[in-house]
Amino acid sequence: MIILHVFSVLNLQFSIMAFKGRENFGRVGAVLAAAGSAVGLGNIWRFPIETGRNGGAAFVLVYILCVIILGLPVMISEFLIGRSTQANTAAAYRKLSPDTQWKWVGRLGVLTGFLILSYYSVVAGWTVEYAGYALFNTFAGQHDYKVMFNDFAADPFWPVLWLFVFMFVTHVIIVRGVKSGIERVSKILMPTLFLLIMMLVFCSVTLPGSGAGIDFIIHPDFSKIDGMVVLSAMGQAFFSLSIGMGCLCTYASYFRPDTNITRSAINVASIDTMIAIMSGFIIFPAAASAGYTLTAGDVGPSLIFITLPHVFQQAFSGAPILAYIFAVMFYVLLILAALTSTISMHEVITAYLSEEFEMSRKKAARMVTSACAFLGIFCALSFGLLNGFHPMGKTIFDWFDFLSSTILLPFGGMLISLFAGWHLNKKLMYDELTNYGTIRIRYFKILVFILRFVAPIAIGFIFLNETGLFDIFR
Ligand code: TRP
Repeated sequence: MIILHVFSVLNLQFSIMAFKGRENFGRVGAVLAAAGSAVGLGNIWRFPIETGRNGGAAFVLVYILCVIILGLPVMISEFLIGRSTQANTAAAYRKLSPDTQWKWVGRLGVLTGFLILSYYSVVAGWTVEYAGYALFNTFAGQHDYKVMFNDFAADPFWPVLWLFVFMFVTHVIIVRGVKSGIERVSKILMPTLFLLIMMLVFCSVTLPGSGAGIDFIIHPDFSKIDGMVVLSAMGQAFFSLSIGMGCLCTYASYFRPDTNITRSAINVASIDTMIAIMSGFIIFPAAASAGYTLTAGDVGPSLIFITLPHVFQQAFSGAPILAYIFAVMFYVLLILAALTSTISMHEVITAYLSEEFEMSRKKAARMVTSACAFLGIFCALSFGLLNGFHPMGKTIFDWFDFLSSTILLPFGGMLISLFAGWHLNKKLMYDELTNYGTIRIRYFKILVFILRFVAPIAIGFIFLNETGLFDIFR
């Protein structure tokens, strides 16, 4: 027994020795960076609106189940694939399975990240403009927030400029490297974000008349749960946890060999879920207090850029100064959340280019930034100059969104779980999860079962549903 233990520790020591030389995250930094990736615009606009559409508290419960049953296993797989290979996501699959086609899973992830980053940064850029509106109190004199937003989004100049600014800031952080760039920024931004969100929740739930909004998220109406609700919850869980494209795999390649993968995954998933639920506690009570019922029309960007400015002004109509502070905090929160997410997507591609094509990190980052900014221009302009151009009924922005988030992401997630469940050496998996026997895990069999059967089948359903290839749940 003791000899076995000595062996395990020696093994771990070996991998620590082999590990030296690559930049790495500290233990807290690892969780904060990964949580920074996960917490993003998806938590703040997508989660509340999915909750609104799918029956409130009941959806929240289904969502939590999806995070635990499907999200965590796939996240754990990405973590262990990244950490065991200490390489960019394309090389990771190649190293684990040389001479097979699995390397395409990694490459597909890089492509998906590239597409998501290009359009996500456009929306991230909008948040900068809106933080400016909030700061200069532009919302106060407005009557029609819809016109205000449409005018802005259609402008040929400002959305593109903010896109560039956002890409540039992301670029600067990436170039500074893993430790003094990504980790340091995550350690500053994540606590700030948490503080902001706590203050916003506090303000929102203490508003007069906010009770109906709170009720909506804490009293489940189970009659609302059907197949569609479950599918929406799964899709949302994947996007929100940043799984399916090698983002967490790349970050995990900077984890130290003694990082506890299970614990890190649980921490990241809990932080992400908590922040999503908290943004529900910002949005619904404020909306209830303003006497506003969120409808299906408040989907996506229109929720944060049209509905909420209106709701904030209404809710705090008795105290304009509070409306002002609330709006500033909210849009700053959005910027921070978006920034830690764009950084994580940028890193996937930068790590890939610099390692696979042996170029400096700086050069790789420059290529990623310019290419994404270039593609982003078309996404940004598709709300204005290019809005007449919609091949097959979708604007360029919608195509990027649809292709990456709806098609490639679930597809990537399915391939990752099939890879980890069926193909990956089980001893290697077990060793990674237990850090060569130095920590104990009890869920290994369940994990493999989920990765083999449950996750691929469930994701297959999301996929068919989102692409509209089948309608049996309607
Ligand atoms: N999870 C982030 C959000 O909620 C977005 C994001 C960052 C993402 N990296 C990702 C989504 C990788 C999918 C895959 O906004």
